[in-house]
Amino acid sequence: MASTQSPPFPPEFAITTPRLRIHPFDPDNLSHCEFLVQLWNTDDFINSCGRTGIDTSEKAAAFIRRRVLADYARNHHGQFLVSLVETTPAPKLIGCVSLMKGAPPGPLYLAPDIGYTILPEESGKGYATEAAKGLLEYASGELGIHGAFGFCAATDMRSRRVLEKLGMDYRGVAALSVFGGKESAVYTLPGMEKDLAVYNLTEQLHDK
Ligand SMILES: CC(C)(COP(=O)(O)OP(=O)(O)OC[C@H]1O[C@@H](n2cnc3c(N)ncnc32)[C@H](O)[C@@H]1OP(=O)(O)O)[C@@H](O)C(=O)NCCC(=O)NCCS
Repeated sequence: MASTQSPPFPPEFAITTPRLRIHPFDPDNLSHCEFLVQLWNTDDFINSCGRTGIDTSEKAAAFIRRRVLADYARNHHGQFLVSLVETTPAPKLIGCVSLMKGAPPGPLYLAPDIGYTILPEESGKGYATEAAKGLLEYASGELGIHGAFGFCAATDMRSRRVLEKLGMDYRGVAALSVFGGKESAVYTLPGMEKDLAVYNLTEQLHDK
């Protein structure tokens, strides 16, 4: 099926880091759709993030068209694929990295948040940190986005470690409206305002 929206990226667009290639999703690329199904249905992902319901390549294609391309068009950022640069014959897909901002009329903070998922067999090699750093540097250098949140379950020490390795500051735990009131650890990039209400994050922070 043809895409109704084209991503606002030139063909072959990619952000590169020493070991990784960070590139947009294409709903017409079956390998992208199949990979999303694989990534979001590992036990590791389901235990950390829950079930997405995206369990076929058709559902993945529809999700990419409806949500991912809409984010690209609205923000020029969103969810990206992560591949290993030095695998042959083609770069191997190993995960996703995202810089997401909610869409009106839903709850919306004025700074995006960084997210990441890496296949279990590729975890523990520093790839989530490297991909997130690459995307944040691109956002700062090319999009003028200098502030970003990091959110994860307060008990998820692995994700928290990634946010710490990115140099983000821990601000406390809050029941975030963007996650339906679920308690999350809140991190911010250095240099962001002390009062997070500036970014429309007005939920009470505790456990500092
Ligand atoms: C969380 C996730 C993205 C991490 O990816 P990764 O490529 O392994 O991350 P990195 O290697 O860059 O860093 C992981 C860090 O966590 C540390 N770590 C791993 N398990 C840990 C634990 N139980 N407690 C504390 N730290 C832990 C690692 O040692 C490493 O830190 P180090 O470099 O100081 O040794 C990956 O495991 C994943 O996709 N999990 C499932 C989805 C998910 O949880 N996404 C995040 C939702 S907010």
